[in-house]
Amino acid sequence: LRELNVYCEIHPYQNVTDAFLTEFAPKAIIFSGGPDSVTREGSPRAPEAAFNLGVPILGICYGQQVMMHQLGGRVESGHGTAEFGRAYVTPKVSLNILDGWFAEGDEQVWMSHGDHVSDIAPGFEVYGTSPNAPYAITADTSRNFFAVQFHPEVHHTPNGARLYENFIKLAGFSGDWTMGAYREQAIAAIREDEQELFLSELEGMSDPETKRKTIGRLFIDVFQKHANDIEGAEFLAQGTLYPDVIESVSFSGGPSVTIKSHHNVGGLPEKMGLKLVEPLRELFKDEVRALGRELGLPESFIGRHPFPGPGLAIRCPGEITRAKLDILRQADAVYIDQIRKHGLYDEIWQAFVAILPVRTVGVMGDGRTYDYACALRAVTSVDGMTADYYPFSHEFLGETATRIINEVKGINRVTYDITSKPPGTIEWE
Ligand code: XMP
Repeated sequence: LRELNVYCEIHPYQNVTDAFLTEFAPKAIIFSGGPDSVTREGSPRAPEAAFNLGVPILGICYGQQVMMHQLGGRVESGHGTAEFGRAYVTPKVSLNILDGWFAEGDEQVWMSHGDHVSDIAPGFEVYGTSPNAPYAITADTSRNFFAVQFHPEVHHTPNGARLYENFIKLAGFSGDWTMGAYREQAIAAIREDEQELFLSELEGMSDPETKRKTIGRLFIDVFQKHANDIEGAEFLAQGTLYPDVIESVSFSGGPSVTIKSHHNVGGLPEKMGLKLVEPLRELFKDEVRALGRELGLPESFIGRHPFPGPGLAIRCPGEITRAKLDILRQADAVYIDQIRKHGLYDEIWQAFVAILPVRTVGVMGDGRTYDYACALRAVTSVDGMTADYYPFSHEFLGETATRIINEVKGINRVTYDITSKPPGTIEWE
């Protein structure tokens, strides 16, 4: 069905409750084949509610037999009822889902069944027969219920795909489910996660520590909410590093002060029912990278620039708005692209753009602009505890500034941050 650009899901019959059917609201249902016998007590049954949804149903092999059994027909097992391999179906009356079939006489189908239907359910009529399956194709066209004994999904039923095409057309599918459409859907779903929640709680907030603590708290709430949905989850693995611990915690009697609150340290609820796994907690970033090489991970993973837990919020000093975040993402993409194009990515420990809470006046195309200023940041470091700014050439900086201003609507001034750590930190907040 997916090859025909129709989205479908496979669900084990035990999981298909009435509530599930109502929520999933299928536009059509297929009961698949299976190894059991409907004559055996305790064998799989179709959810009764499925028959009352008013959607087309196609039963295949066991799925056909279970339909007959549940809707008032009869299935028998025993000697002489089995049929395996090639068979030929002879048409009786024409049927919509068999459009394009029987053009050259009987159709080859592939059979694989032990039991057989001996009485069809009320309302059903016969549309095709084979020597060993007098009810090879039956249907109740008033309800759009179709039942076939053979396997239309296998290669050896040459016109099987045609049957599916007819079935989905009848069910009203437009066949527009493509990887492109899936991509759009998946991205939209990911973006919905909790963006609104974060943006609404951060509205009007500009103090860095308040922002960090709010993000940390929301992160935990959201985490807890989603963790509760995952049955059987036992562990929470985090990539906490030693500097996160050192900078977040002011050890009593120790010399360190809290510089920034890292949400992954100390923010987790005491009773979350998950065991914490933090194998990197005692390591600095350079040591983590050495460990990565020890593990044989690809260099592209190992060399990836760090990204802070609180995300872009701390690269947006002052108030955070959706519009500023959009501008920031675009500017950052141009900047990182420039760095990669010039072969500098691996020489730099971390690079990013910060959008400043300042709008400045500019002139573009003889017109006045009043847009945001941004700061480019790029540092060299070994462990993130100390850092120096990266000495880009003026050509590189000039080219990058031009590209950002030309390509990103909303920025009309670009600056380069040449502060080391200390006295600065790598991030702006
Ligand atoms: P700073 O700005 O403290 O950053 O010099 C040092 C490194 O840590 C990253 N960073 C964080 N990472 N949670 C994280 O997981 C945080 O709250 C956080 N704050 C900063 C920063 O990107 C840099 O690599």
